[in-house]
Amino acid sequence: MADLALVPETASAAAARTDLLFLVLLAFSAAITLLVAVLITLFAIRYRAGTQRDRGPLPGPLRREVELGWTLATLFLAVIIFVWAVVQDLGYLRPPAEALEIDVLAKQWMWRVRHPAGPREINRLHLPRGRDVVLRMNSSDVIHSFYLPAFRVKQDVVPGRTTSLWFRPEKTGRFRLFCAEYCGTDHSRMTGEVVVMEPEDYARWLDARPAGDGLAARGEALFTGLGCAGCHLSDSGRRAPVLAGLAGRPVLLADGSRVIADRRYLMDAILRPRQEVAAGYAPVMPGYDGILSEGELAALIAYLQRLDGPEAVQAGDGE
Ligand code: CUA
Repeated sequence: MADLALVPETASAAAARTDLLFLVLLAFSAAITLLVAVLITLFAIRYRAGTQRDRGPLPGPLRREVELGWTLATLFLAVIIFVWAVVQDLGYLRPPAEALEIDVLAKQWMWRVRHPAGPREINRLHLPRGRDVVLRMNSSDVIHSFYLPAFRVKQDVVPGRTTSLWFRPEKTGRFRLFCAEYCGTDHSRMTGEVVVMEPEDYARWLDARPAGDGLAARGEALFTGLGCAGCHLSDSGRRAPVLAGLAGRPVLLADGSRVIADRRYLMDAILRPRQEVAAGYAPVMPGYDGILSEGELAALIAYLQRLDGPEAVQAGDGE
């Protein structure tokens, strides 16, 4: 279907079925619109002012047949489309039993993802191709909406309730994720991507990100406990650089120099942040020199290095 370019990129079989329904509806509507337009034009010419045409009603029996005919034809079409759409929608409602379950937490203004095997991601969701996936979604603040155009799925994410969404990626690649419910200042920046990989690659990706135990998990606990998330995660990089996906990437500093966010940089930035201010941010972060033990520092860095995120989000990217 995507080849027709009548519809957006398609990445699942369900998406192709939805497109078929849409295109059939479009064809029906176009045909009926055309028919009505042609009849209006013909009648306007045939019965224009001044002509001596017969303007009386059709003979009784014929009139009933014509009326009955178009009423039944319309009803028949409407019922077909209704049943078709209901069957299609019910399919989206019931996730298959064997689906891979992944937790998604929406938060102003980001998507936090937790895989059953442990790894976490922000604004990015890695998936294996050819396997049903069901997302169990919650919001920690307001209503958001998880929207994947390539899969033709969209579901509200509501605080205080778990909503689900399922689909089966059938194509490898990167597909865009949007928030489709206005949720505050940075709603338009609450985007991300779904990365569909071959199952082997997905397994390798999982292996490269061991479960949340050990050093990185301790780092995460520290990150939360010290309140780092308050500026570095919750604000989409307006007060401080968002750290997801930062490790190993270049950072532009306030003095115009560029450094790679390697282990050494991360360490300096935590211990002596005022010398390592990323361009565009006020030097407000307290230094942790003498506060963190060596082990704590190592745990924090292990956590930061594992914190995956889209390339677009990195230090120096804020306004
Ligand atoms: Cu979240 Cu809009």
